[in-house]
Amino acid sequence: TTELPRLTVIGTGYLGATHAICMAVLGFEVLGVDVDQAKIDKLASGEVPFFEPGLPELLTKALESGRLRFSTSFEEAGEFGDVHFVCVGTPQQAGSDAADLSYVHAAFRSLAPHMHRRALVVGKSTVPVGTAKQLAETVRDLAPAGAEAELAWNPEFLREGFAVDDTMRPDRLVFGVESEWAEERLRAAYKPVLDLGTPVVRTDLATAELVKVAANSFLATKISYINAMAEVCEAVGADIKDLADSLALDDRIGGKFLKPGLGFGGGCLPKDIRAFAHRAEEIGVGQAVSFLREVDDINRRRRARTVDLVREMLGGISGKRIAAWGAAFKPNSDDIRDAPALDVARTMHGLGGHVRVFDPAALDNARRAFPDLRYGDSAFDVARDADVVVLLTEWSEFREVDPEALAEVVKHKRIVDGRHALNADQWRAAGWEYRALGRS
Ligand code: UDX
Repeated sequence: TTELPRLTVIGTGYLGATHAICMAVLGFEVLGVDVDQAKIDKLASGEVPFFEPGLPELLTKALESGRLRFSTSFEEAGEFGDVHFVCVGTPQQAGSDAADLSYVHAAFRSLAPHMHRRALVVGKSTVPVGTAKQLAETVRDLAPAGAEAELAWNPEFLREGFAVDDTMRPDRLVFGVESEWAEERLRAAYKPVLDLGTPVVRTDLATAELVKVAANSFLATKISYINAMAEVCEAVGADIKDLADSLALDDRIGGKFLKPGLGFGGGCLPKDIRAFAHRAEEIGVGQAVSFLREVDDINRRRRARTVDLVREMLGGISGKRIAAWGAAFKPNSDDIRDAPALDVARTMHGLGGHVRVFDPAALDNARRAFPDLRYGDSAFDVARDADVVVLLTEWSEFREVDPEALAEVVKHKRIVDGRHALNADQWRAAGWEYRALGRS
């Protein structure tokens, strides 16, 4: 392993912690750096501060190997690293659609003065196109090694719940570089991954930045497309499930990201399409991606329509007992950022419904963020005496519920399937009134 470059990972949130742990497991010496002492202490003691299947075991393994360490010192990072991966977050700015780049700029400004020898800084954060060029200036201006310190861009495509696999065995690697040397360094920093035959696209900085937002925009558009078709289906009594299944069989279209329902949420898709639309306007090509505003609107309407469906079924929401299944923005995650499930639960609560929420992993996060909502300990617990059960996140635990058994605890056998996760025939056969968006 002596010829492998030493890596630092700046920012040990979701992306950074996963990257640092996986790279150490793959054989690199890795230093994880964050300004948050509490986060660093947790990771150093072997605790992953978020829910991600498989990652805690790998953290233990990496720490035991002695190849993974954590620190809050940028001086140490500059001293240690041959290749620095910057993985800090770019959340949506308060009161604007634009991305908040303060963490990215701060990370570069903190690291660059400590780059005393030739090293490569690699941006992995999702940023508005044009940011890398500015950051390259920062590195040139502030790094003592002057022109020897270089910048590359290498977007990250990992999905929550599959973060380990997406990092160890990605579909592709995109290297935005300005020199042969930078490409050679990146190839060395990904050697074990490249040895698996992973395809590489070598390109310029701006294209590398754009690949990420273009990919997420495409995925969001695909979801909103099928949800727009669901709106049409509802108007004519057609069936979105059969429609989507039929489209999916055309392999030019494919079934992935074509699942109709409550729509997308999370820390990436919603903010990335907004930031992209905003950035496109800034650079004078707003019209080219104005459809992303529509994609966002379609997505928001799904949440409102789900509340309407419950209202239709119950003849009003105020005073009704409503079991809300799910809080996370998707299954196998404890992430509640822009979660459609909690949005719907909170709206129904605001309308006077007696909403009780259960989620297999995101309950603590939900409780902390929305202490006004009521919560329960299990899918059955929240369904006790319910007028309606509303499935909002498609955890397998909810799919596996036996409708006969659930019928014993509810007041009325009514279910709204916000994710097309249940077998409608089975529930109807058990005497339930089953409703889903885009189906009659
Ligand atoms: C996404 C991208 O997939 C990933 O490549 C990028 O790096 C980060 O953003 P993630 O946010 O983890 O990953 O979630 P993803 O699995 O993409 O799901 C996003 C949202 O879309 C979820 O709320 C999910 O419920 C919803 N979704 C997904 C649908 O509503 N229908 C679908 O068919 C697929």
